[in-house]
Amino acid sequence: MSEIIKVGLGDRAYDIHVGGGMLEQSGALLKTLARGPVPVVTDAHVADIHLAKTQDVLGKAGIDARPIVMPAGEVSKSFAGLEKLCGQLLDMEIDRGGLIVALGGGVIGDLTGFAAGVLKRGVAFAQVPTTLLAQVDSSVGGKTAINAKQGKNLIGLFHQPRIVIADTALLATLPRRELLAGYAEVAKYGALGDADFFNWLEANAAKALGGDSAAMVKAVAHSCRMKADIVARDERETGDRALLNLGHTFGHALEAATGFSDRLLHGEGVAIGMVLAFQLSVKLGLAPGQDAERFARHLKAMGLPAAIADIPGPRPDVDSLVAAMAHDKKVKDGKLTFILLRGLGQSFVTRDVPIAAVKDVLAA
Ligand code: NAD
Ligand code: GLY
Repeated sequence: MSEIIKVGLGDRAYDIHVGGGMLEQSGALLKTLARGPVPVVTDAHVADIHLAKTQDVLGKAGIDARPIVMPAGEVSKSFAGLEKLCGQLLDMEIDRGGLIVALGGGVIGDLTGFAAGVLKRGVAFAQVPTTLLAQVDSSVGGKTAINAKQGKNLIGLFHQPRIVIADTALLATLPRRELLAGYAEVAKYGALGDADFFNWLEANAAKALGGDSAAMVKAVAHSCRMKADIVARDERETGDRALLNLGHTFGHALEAATGFSDRLLHGEGVAIGMVLAFQLSVKLGLAPGQDAERFARHLKAMGLPAAIADIPGPRPDVDSLVAAMAHDKKVKDGKLTFILLRGLGQSFVTRDVPIAAVKDVLAA
């Protein structure tokens, strides 16, 4: 079972191919875009598990695949990582007619996309996402970036991939905690714009994460379809695309307050952040309390943290969380942007939130 989702961006339109075993077809799909040697950028963990098979599949299609293996983890999304990657790409004499493949999670996708965007003023790239987070979120939509010492994702550009190939079978090797963190972004789509999808997730998400291929393909494909629709409407985030940041203002603050450490993965921060956004919406009289409770109950049932108290270690204090929010990219004219909800599947963007209510929710 597989699905193709179109990202309608005119002359930069592309397809997302989602399926169990889709990697097998990546040779044929990439062959039409490739010219000359094709760098396959990956990280050390993914290289150990999935690189040999990928090289084999691409080789059989007649593609001269050249691996570039970066250290695993956020450390590679750095100026040093970018310099190392660009150096290797230049040594391979990749020209503007070439194609670079990103095989990995959001770190590899963001770094490779950024390098492809700036190398020789822009080289085409393909995303082959290997984490659930990357399959449903970071590989789609063309946001690419590295981190600066001042904060995450501050150096970046929009550079759309030419194709996304999401093989859900690759998720079988992902540690459970990473799978769950990615699942937070799947649940996000239900909360932000599709109550029917949320109903479906309540009934089927455990099955999908438990290895049911058809259910996982549906969860990934539906998430990609929702993201593709939003990106096609608002590629540069001047409006609706901000809805994809549901839970992120709170989530980023929690990640910052826990030192971007193993205490809290990005998706875990988003999970707690979405519950806080729901609670803030209830506090402001916008959303029914039972929707917020139902959403938190589902995340908990899946095994995700759903409250600040679920973060191991000392509880981040309210003032440091508010200070971290003030540094967020989403601050404009000194005002915080929040995505709030009127209920499950009904989100909206607002900059009109009293800080006292935010503090109350953080302290609860
Ligand atoms: P990641 O890329 O670090 O991957 C998580 C871990 O899983 C790594 O250790 C990796 O080596 C390992 N891994 C990857 N695939 C595997 C597999 N199939 N089997 C076993 N192990 C595997 O992290 P992530 O969660 O995929 O992405 C997080 C990054 O994505 C952050 O840098 C974040 O800023 C970025 N992001 C970008 C966007 C965007 O729109 N561009 C959106 C969301 C997040
Ligand atoms: N992950 C949010 C976005 O792509 O806009």
